[in-house]
Amino acid sequence: MTQKPLRTFRPATLALNAGLEPDALTHAIAPNISMSVNNSFIPGDGAFSANGLDLTETPFLYAGWTNPTVRQLEERLAALENTEDAYAAATGMAAMAAVFFSLLKSGDHLIISDVCYAAINELALQVMPSFGVDVTAVNLSRIDEVIAAIKPNTRLIHAETPNNPLLRLTDLQALSEITRAKNIPLSVDSTFATPVVTRPCDFGVDLVVHSLTKFINGHGDALGGCVAGKKSLISEIRSKAGVYLGASLSAHNAWLIMRGIDTLFPRMNMMCQSAMKIASWLEQHPRVKSVIYPGLSSHPQHDLAKRQMDKFGGIVVFQVDDIDTTEQRFAHESHLFHYAYSIGHQRSLAVLLKTEDLMKSTYRLTSEQQQEYLQYAGKGLFRLSIGLESVEDMIEDLEYILR
Ligand SMILES: Cc1ncc(COP(=O)(O)O)c(C=O)c1O
Repeated sequence: MTQKPLRTFRPATLALNAGLEPDALTHAIAPNISMSVNNSFIPGDGAFSANGLDLTETPFLYAGWTNPTVRQLEERLAALENTEDAYAAATGMAAMAAVFFSLLKSGDHLIISDVCYAAINELALQVMPSFGVDVTAVNLSRIDEVIAAIKPNTRLIHAETPNNPLLRLTDLQALSEITRAKNIPLSVDSTFATPVVTRPCDFGVDLVVHSLTKFINGHGDALGGCVAGKKSLISEIRSKAGVYLGASLSAHNAWLIMRGIDTLFPRMNMMCQSAMKIASWLEQHPRVKSVIYPGLSSHPQHDLAKRQMDKFGGIVVFQVDDIDTTEQRFAHESHLFHYAYSIGHQRSLAVLLKTEDLMKSTYRLTSEQQQEYLQYAGKGLFRLSIGLESVEDMIEDLEYILR
């Protein structure tokens, strides 16, 4: 009998073991933090320019390109997303900027979800055009609209599923069939899903982007981001973003994030179970106008959710009539839901995302897209990021807030 390769083990096992390099000298099992900025090399053995050099090969030359601790994290992320390689960036935004600035140039066309994480939406629609990139915002849950938006110079389509903050889904299989036929790279922000819920590259997606700051680290104490995909694409992104944008992750945060990933599966399993219970409880609450959660049969894309998601995620959003009172109560009276932006931490978080504010600051929607947004969100959505507290206590806390 021969030992099977580690990469063929199940994702929950890879979360603990992929990329792990026990220390050669001490045999320590926990990863070392390699803080050295430089690793020495033999003159003549390495190239001095980033162009054409495989920056992940030892000897590690310079920590801004890659570093042994960050490399262990990258290997674990690639294993979890079932991809050849991954590049770890300083934040989720750095990972996204790495993709845009590496793959797009002046004269190219980008298609992006009309609604997605605010700063990514703003980067695409308010910053990229100033570099000569033409950008179209489309509801990516409508495949016919995506097809209509594709131009001869379309060089990237970027989706987010479930998207922030509507929890609207993109059909990854259907979209990747279109992008493959047209030879257009497809990137997907899978921050809300994590590899426990969906592995986008298994559906034909080319690049998966994460804010590691959220569920993947899971403890609210480290910023990070990553992009995973084929080695050729990741090398291109690493050599541009690591070297020219200076976007790489620090060794210290890589270590913290690896420790977070050790418990990603049990954390996500518990959060998804609690989120389902809370979503069902909210749905029957007299003060709640609507609840959006992909696991509820009332979610407009529940069938797609069942096909594409192994679990339904740790985020629940809902609407009430009296948003101001509810916001104040969350901020001042909740014991368990900390009133804060961000998601995916071990402690529960709540925040109100006012439609009017987002329309002013961020989204550039057509009137039809705006109508659709209002159908989901009304005057505003309360976004709950479900933590690891007892679900009975979370429901009691919500009962008090919604009294
Ligand atoms: C879906 C999504 N992608 C990316 C980001 C950006 O991540 P970071 O804050 O790590 O830059 C966020 C932040 O909230 C997010 O919600």
